[in-house]
Amino acid sequence: QTPKGSCLEAVKIAIDAGYRHIDGAFVYFNEHEVGQAIREKIAEGKIKREDIFYCGKLWNTCHPPELVRPTLEKTLKILQLDYVDLYIIELPMAFKPGDALYPKDENGKFIYHETDLCATWEALEACKDAGLAKSLGVSNFNRRQLEMIMNKPGLKYKPVSNQVECHPYFTQPKLLEFCRQHDIVIVGYSPLGTSRDESWVNVSSPPLLKDHVLNAIGKKYNKTAAQIALRFNVQRGVVVIPKSFNPQRIRENFQIFDFSLTEKEMKEIEALNKNVRYVELLM
Ligand code: A2P
Repeated sequence: QTPKGSCLEAVKIAIDAGYRHIDGAFVYFNEHEVGQAIREKIAEGKIKREDIFYCGKLWNTCHPPELVRPTLEKTLKILQLDYVDLYIIELPMAFKPGDALYPKDENGKFIYHETDLCATWEALEACKDAGLAKSLGVSNFNRRQLEMIMNKPGLKYKPVSNQVECHPYFTQPKLLEFCRQHDIVIVGYSPLGTSRDESWVNVSSPPLLKDHVLNAIGKKYNKTAAQIALRFNVQRGVVVIPKSFNPQRIRENFQIFDFSLTEKEMKEIEALNKNVRYVELLM
């Protein structure tokens, strides 16, 4: 999904800037570059493997339990790493297994596949027991789907995290509260309101970084709206995974630990919630 080599450079710049958590996936088609960047930085002596927190994802076509371990092993081979720190189910629904990552019928409709999320989860648990993943989580799960896993008879490991869209225009108050109660970390994707790519982004919601409140608060701290949006989530215990391929913005997005927002400002930002997603995942 990224021009050749740009991901390698971006990850190396990010590690130099201080980032340690790297969010990846097989379907991003750049895991080989991420792995190379990590290995180069280890060879340089900049970091050790255990300093890095790499999250990989199980794609929709790989939910049948017998496919889970081979899929993770393929990711590890591409990364040239021995383990991932976190392995998560990318989406709570399955596509027909096979070479096509987005299988469609002759009418252009997605071909789904009936699988049991609990059985998929058990296969993930076996991967953790085998040392291929340190922790297990999910992504795009709602409360009902989380409960399905958590209430599974014989559950060995509960999900440690749920990666969902989360930013000042989509603050996830109910899911956040539920996850807090159950010690599940929310990892917020699209924390900057994502890009304005109409092919997968709902652009009817206004651009987050143009928001007046975020910009006004930013002025006070000599920070950008992006930094305020990131700080807001970090300060309420939500992990953020901002995406940038621009060296200056990669560094900018890390400069959020030298100030804090007041309680009043946190409330003001919370009030911006529109309950509208940029990433609708219509499939
Ligand atoms: P770029 O790669 O050119 O920096 P999200 O993390 O919410 O998915 O947002 C990603 C989008 O936001 C990308 O288009 C990225 O573009 C842009 N972006 C990343 N950091 C910043 C920033 N600090 N200020 C403005 N735009 C940013």
